Amino acid sequence: MEHLLERHLFLFIQLSIHFYLYMIALHNIEKFYKAGMQRTWILRDISLKINEGDFVTIMGPSGAGKSTLLNILGLLEQPNNGEYLFMDQATHKLNERQRTKIHQNHIGFVFQAYHLIDELTVYENIETPLLYKKIKGGERKSMVAEMLDRFNIVAKKDLFPHQLSGGQQQLVGVARAIIGKPNLLLADEPTGNLHSKQGEEIMDLFKSLNEEGMTIVQVTHSEKNAQYGNRVIELEDGWMKEIR
Ligand SMILES: Nc1ncnc2c1ncn2[C@@H]1O[C@H](COP(=O)(O)OP(=O)(O)O)[C@@H](O)[C@H]1O
Ligand SMILES: [Mg+2]
Repeated sequence: MEHLLERHLFLFIQLSIHFYLYMIALHNIEKFYKAGMQRTWILRDISLKINEGDFVTIMGPSGAGKSTLLNILGLLEQPNNGEYLFMDQATHKLNERQRTKIHQNHIGFVFQAYHLIDELTVYENIETPLLYKKIKGGERKSMVAEMLDRFNIVAKKDLFPHQLSGGQQQLVGVARAIIGKPNLLLADEPTGNLHSKQGEEIMDLFKSLNEEGMTIVQVTHSEKNAQYGNRVIELEDGWMKEIR
C-alpha cells in the first residue's frame, strides 16, 4: 500500500514537471489589419496542435500568412482573436514581458530577413541567446566556437552583418537560433539564400536536432525540404489545411 502510494506520488511529480498536453495548441486564431473601415484578413480561424517532437512544414503562396503565423507561434506578434497555449501556458493571457521571457527561454527563431543585430559581430550575434539564458562565460565561449566551426564561419567571427553575403547572414541566423538548444525551433525559409549543398546541410542538421527531441516548424517553398518533416500544413489567403 505504502509502496503504491509512493509510486503514485512519484508519477504525479514526474508528470507535473515534464508533462504537457501539446507543445503548441492554437484555438481559432485570427489576425487582421484595419485600414479605415475595412479589415484585411491575414489569418482566419486557425486551430492547430503540435506535439513535442513534431517537425511541421508550412507551405503556401507568397502573402498567404506564413510568416505571420510563425511570428505568432514565436510570440513575436499577437493575434487579434483566439487562444494560444504554449507548453500549457495561456500566452494570450500574459503580458509582453512574460511572453518575451518564454521566447527567450524556449524558442529559437530563424527570420526570413535574418534580423541580425547590425552593431554586433558575427560572434556576438550568435552569443546573444546564451546571454539571455545566463550561461557562464567559459561555457558560452566554447558553445559559440562550436557553432562557428560547424557552420564554417570561424574566419568571419569578427565581421559585422553588412560585411557578409546573404547566405552567410542566413547561416549566422541559423546558428543563433539553435545555439541555446530551444524546445521549439521556428524557421522562416531558412535555406532560401543558401547554395543547394549548404541548404541540404542545414536540413540534415534540423533533422538530427529533431531526432534529439527539438520540435521544429519551418516555412519553405521546397518540396524537398518538406520531406524532412512529418507533417505539412498549407496556408492560402489565411486559411489553413493540413495536407499530410
Ligand atoms: N503590418 C501590416 N499591415 C498590413 N498588412 C500586413 C502587415 N504585415 C503583413 N501584412 C500582409 O499580410 C499578408 C501575409 O503576410 P505574410 O505573413 O508575410 O505572408 P507570407 O509569409 O506567406 O508571404 C500579406 O498580404 C501582407 O501584405
Ligand atoms: Mg514570409
